[in-house]
Amino acid sequence: MKWWQETVFYEIYMPSFKDGNDDGIGDFKGLREKIPYLAELGIGGVWLTPFYPSPKVDNGYDVSDYYAVDADFGTMADLEAFIAEAHAYGIRVIADMVVNHVSTEHAWFKEARLARDSPKRDWFVWQDTPNNWESFFGGPAWEWDASSEQYYYHSFAKEQVDLNWRNEEVVREIWNVFDFWLDKGLDGFRLDVINNLTLTRNFPDNPVDANGEQVHIFDKDQPGMDAKMAEIGAYIRGKGDYFTVGEISSDKLSDIEKYAGTDGLDVTFNFNFGSVASRDGIVAELSRMQEVYADGRMPTLFFGSHDMSRSWNRLADGREDVAQMLAMLMLTAHGVPFVYFGEELGMADFVPDSVDAMRDVQGIYAYDLELEAGRPADEALRVAQDKTRDKARAPMWWPEGFSQGVAWIGEVPPDFERGRRMFTFYQALIALRKTADFCEPGYRAFDVDGALLMYVRGDYLVCLNFGEAREMENRWGNLTEILANQSIVFDAETVKLPENAAVIFKVGEQ
Ligand code: GLC
Repeated sequence: MKWWQETVFYEIYMPSFKDGNDDGIGDFKGLREKIPYLAELGIGGVWLTPFYPSPKVDNGYDVSDYYAVDADFGTMADLEAFIAEAHAYGIRVIADMVVNHVSTEHAWFKEARLARDSPKRDWFVWQDTPNNWESFFGGPAWEWDASSEQYYYHSFAKEQVDLNWRNEEVVREIWNVFDFWLDKGLDGFRLDVINNLTLTRNFPDNPVDANGEQVHIFDKDQPGMDAKMAEIGAYIRGKGDYFTVGEISSDKLSDIEKYAGTDGLDVTFNFNFGSVASRDGIVAELSRMQEVYADGRMPTLFFGSHDMSRSWNRLADGREDVAQMLAMLMLTAHGVPFVYFGEELGMADFVPDSVDAMRDVQGIYAYDLELEAGRPADEALRVAQDKTRDKARAPMWWPEGFSQGVAWIGEVPPDFERGRRMFTFYQALIALRKTADFCEPGYRAFDVDGALLMYVRGDYLVCLNFGEAREMENRWGNLTEILANQSIVFDAETVKLPENAAVIFKVGEQ
C-alpha cells in the first residue's frame, strides 16, 4: 500500500489559513504554529496552494518565479522549517504546481514578448488572428501584444499566459522545477488545470451551445494529452515515493478518471462528485465511482476547495446533521479524502456585499462583463456574487483570530460551539479512516436503496440516509454503534434511520 492511499489530506489556502506576522495575510510562520492543530485533527498530508512569487492577479496561480517563495508567505527558510516540522509530526506536504501558465510578469514572458525572434518566443502560444476561444474566466482567450504585434493565448486571466508544451525546452524546464521542489523535501504535487496544456498548433473554433455559452472542447484534452499525462506521472514517480493529484477541468467522470492510475497521475480530483450543485447527485455519482474504481485505483473524495462555495452552504444548507453526514461519506468511502480548511469547523461562505469587497478575479471579471453588457450595477453584483470564489476564501476560525491586522479579505463571524462539535466528529472519523478496515480497497458490500446509501468497509457498516426518515431491516445481525450524527434506534430486526441519519456500525459475529 502506498502512503497516500492511507492519508487524509487537508487543503490549505495559503493567504487565509493563519497569519504569523500580523500583515493580514496567511504565511508559513502562522502555518507552522498550527501543525499541532492539524496533528490533533489526524491529518496526514497537506496541500499548500501556490506560495511562489506572484503579482497575485489570481492569488498566486499566476507564478512569476518557480524557484522562490513569495515574501508575503515568508522566506525559503520558513518553508523549509515548516516542511521539517510537519514531517516530524508525520504530516506530508504537497505543493500546488501551476505549469499550464505563468504570470505575464515572469521573466520568460517578458523576454518572449521583446521580439518575434526572441529565444523564448516559442515558449508561449502566438497567433496573428485569434479564434473564438474564451478564457475560463470569461472574455476572449487571446490578448493583443502591441509591442510584438501578435496575440498571445491565455486560458485564464490575461495576466496568466499559457506555456507552449510542444516546446521541449519548456518541458525540460518544468522537470527542473519539479526536481527543485522535490529536493526541498516536498512529498508530491497537486497539478493545476493539468489537462489544459497546449499541445497542438491547431486552433479550431469551439462550439457554442443553445444559450450562447462556449463549450470548451478544443482548448483542453488536446490530442497527445494522455501521453503527456503519463509522461508527467512517470517523471515524478521515477524520482521516488511521491504523490501526484491532478486537477482536471471537467466535472465528467469519464474525463476525470482516465488520467488516474499507473499510466497517468496517482489520482485526479473527482469534480463529478465534489462540486455537485446539490445533494441530489451525490449517491448516484458515488455509485458510478464504485464501479469505475473497482479495479484498484482510487477516486478523490471532497466537498470543498478554494474554487467553490463551501459545502456548509452549497450542500448542507447550513445544517449540522447534513454537514456531518457529508463528512462521514467523505471519510469512510473508498477514495483519497481532501478536507478543505475550516470545513472541519462548519465554516460558512463569505459573500462580499460590494464589488470593492471582492478579491477574486473571476468575480470581478463577471461584474465588469455584466456592466459592459449594459446590466445595472445591482444585477451585475448578484451575478458576481454567484461567480466569485471569495466565498470559500475567508480566514480560518481560530479562537485567537486569524491575524492581529485587518485580513486581506472579509471575515465570516465564527461559531465556536459548532466548530467544537464538528471538529470532534471529524476527528473521530479521521481516526477510523486510518484503521485497516477503511484502508481496504473497494467495498465488501455497496447498496443503494432510494436515497439510502449503505456500504461495508472491513468490519464496518456505514448507513447514510440522504432522504426522509425510514426503517430498514437489520440484515447484519449483531450491530454495535460506533459513531452517529444523531440518536439511532435499532435492534436485532430493524434499524430506524431519521432524515439525514449518518451512522457507522461495527458488524459482529453472526
Ligand atoms: C485552478 C485553480 C484556480 C485557478 C485556476 C487557474 O482551477 O484551482 O484557483 O484560478 O486553476 O490557475
